[in-house]
Amino acid sequence: MVSQKLRGRYTRWSQTYDRTAQMWEYRTPAVLASRMRELLPTSSRILDCACGTGLNGPHYPGASLFGADATLAMTIHTRSRGYRSCVSDARALPYLDDTFDAVLCTAMLDQYRTIAPFVREMARVVRPDGLVAFTTFCDREERQHLPLRDIREVLVQSNMHLVETFRYASHHGVGCPTTFFRATIAQK
Ligand SMILES: C[S@@+](CC[C@H](N)C(=O)[O-])C[C@H]1O[C@@H](n2cnc3c(N)ncnc32)[C@H](O)[C@@H]1O
Repeated sequence: MVSQKLRGRYTRWSQTYDRTAQMWEYRTPAVLASRMRELLPTSSRILDCACGTGLNGPHYPGASLFGADATLAMTIHTRSRGYRSCVSDARALPYLDDTFDAVLCTAMLDQYRTIAPFVREMARVVRPDGLVAFTTFCDREERQHLPLRDIREVLVQSNMHLVETFRYASHHGVGCPTTFFRATIAQK
């Protein structure tokens, strides 16, 4: 279950989220899409899981965009980006098995102690051979954040295999040092 505290935080942030992302030069949607667009047909049916205000959407022109997020106030902003969105915990999505060509999940998983229930659910709603792509924090030594071997293990448990993973640098707040992220792309 998603806590009231978390929902409250994102409800408050929803009004200024896009401006913050712009100020931080938030690169994740563009970085991930530059690779995913090479792997996906343009007209793909894509679920943006924990979609927030829908910053991933504009990077997939021609796609059918669906969104799911725990915070209603966030999802309202996705309408202008052409999403069909719902309010849902990403661990219990209101979609049938094998529905999407691809599922994305950016800047959300690190808020939780374990990513397994999320990855399992994304794997359930993506079609066989479809792609799941998500991002997590990562540091140079991989000591503080989720190690790649744990990600691999979760993928195996979810009946998926790793297609590729890459690290990229970005800032995470004005004045913050450079932070590293890992993009993981897996196939069912
Ligand atoms: C930092 S924002 C990222 C939004 C978007 N993915 C992006 O990259 O801009 C995190 C989002 O995750 C959502 N969220 C957090 N926990 C969630 C959960 N269990 N299920 C669905 N959405 C969740 C929040 O409501 C928020 O909109």
